[in-house]
Amino acid sequence: MEAAFARFVSEHPRYQGTAAIDTLRRRDFARLDREGQVYLDYTGSGLYAASQVELHAATLLARILGNPHSASRASLESTRLVEHCRERVLTFFRADPAEYVVVFTANASHALKLVGESYPFESGDVFLLTFDNHNSVNGIREFDRLRGARTVYVPMAPPELRVDESLLDGQLALARPGGHNLFAYPAQSNFSGVQHPLDWIERAQARGFDVLLDAAAFVPTNRLDLSEVRPDFVALSFYKLFGYPTGVGALIARRSALARLHRPWFAGGTIEVASVQADRFVRAAGAAAFEDGTVDFANIPAVELGLDLLDSVGMAVIHERVQLLTAWVLKRLGGLRHSSGQPLVSLYGPATAERRGGTLAFNLKDAAGAIVDHRRVEKAANEGGISLRTGCFCNPGAGELALGLSRDDLQKCFTESPVRLTWEDLRQCVDPKAAGAVRASLGLVSNFADAYAFASFVESFLDRPAVQPA
Ligand SMILES: Cc1ncc(COP(=O)(O)O)c(C=O)c1O
Repeated sequence: MEAAFARFVSEHPRYQGTAAIDTLRRRDFARLDREGQVYLDYTGSGLYAASQVELHAATLLARILGNPHSASRASLESTRLVEHCRERVLTFFRADPAEYVVVFTANASHALKLVGESYPFESGDVFLLTFDNHNSVNGIREFDRLRGARTVYVPMAPPELRVDESLLDGQLALARPGGHNLFAYPAQSNFSGVQHPLDWIERAQARGFDVLLDAAAFVPTNRLDLSEVRPDFVALSFYKLFGYPTGVGALIARRSALARLHRPWFAGGTIEVASVQADRFVRAAGAAAFEDGTVDFANIPAVELGLDLLDSVGMAVIHERVQLLTAWVLKRLGGLRHSSGQPLVSLYGPATAERRGGTLAFNLKDAAGAIVDHRRVEKAANEGGISLRTGCFCNPGAGELALGLSRDDLQKCFTESPVRLTWEDLRQCVDPKAAGAVRASLGLVSNFADAYAFASFVESFLDRPAVQPA
């Protein structure tokens, strides 16, 4: 490993400019190396620094925090911390407070649902979305269908799993003039790591779409600068950036776009006043109208500590390190061949680190071309202290295209299988095609040793049969 590291650094001297991450890892993430763990599921969740937890515990222990919806001292203290954090989130994403507001949510899915359930779709409107989307975006189609709007998927092409831009232009032309049309896509795919262009935002808006940017997989290792790109809605979960707190996400929305949404109900916290006898209510202004009940006031202050942590290292440094390690891993995996000359790794997504993040989806194939069951890969990784993820990562569209599953393949499974199709039924149904993949993702404190351990682990499958003799 030392020799490989020396070669890597001599080929990529810029890596040394990311040494602040090693210092951070030694100080705040010592548990990783103490436990001998190689964590490669940053797209699943970021990891938290010891200091975040300590500082948050100190805040909780020092203060009296009451339910924010009141004027008591304890209530005002919670309100002050929550509002301070709201401003901090805007600053972190360089969003102009005159233009954007932060709605605190439980997670990215909740932020996406708030938009979906409140978007004023009407008959003939279009909900346009990429094949490459998390299920929490796909689910919005159930809302648009209820209101008579059309769901239109933008296709992508393997092996890179990118969108054909000329097709996109054609689909952007489908917006109903004067209607409410919504375009949703991920800034970075949680399946393939592809980074879809942020200049689509302006293009889509110019064609009559509001844009919902799913930034959940992008923001942990990339700067999202809302003074440069101006989506109408941005959804994210904070634990993906820095592991803690869980249970807090955000919908960052343009004030003008938020004002166009119609919430289907009201709740405590979302109204100015409501009357039973008058059967009337008046909605609260701005973010409050979207925060049902009590926000997570004890945990929200911890979000600021996480943002401070990222700023202390710098998003550019985090981004640089992840890019360099990703490029190295991709090259190593691409070079792994069985004695027969057959490649070991079947990668789903771009084979270079250009316009992609550090999320790699793949399957392993034996010398005869048979796929190694991803569950076997995960089991072996666990035994080697490596945390990966397997399955379809809640992104069926990218998975179906990557694995070569056609509409017919899938419709057959849904119509011919039991009433309540399970994952295992689907897997059996598409056999011998794969129904899932393996995913490794790099993040905040990844280092060369992690990348090396992962490449060595994959290499250990060389010249082994996909199905092991019983
Ligand atoms: C791109 C993307 N969008 C949305 C989500 C949903 O995030 P959450 O489960 O925190 O709501 C995820 C989670 O993996 C994701 O990667």
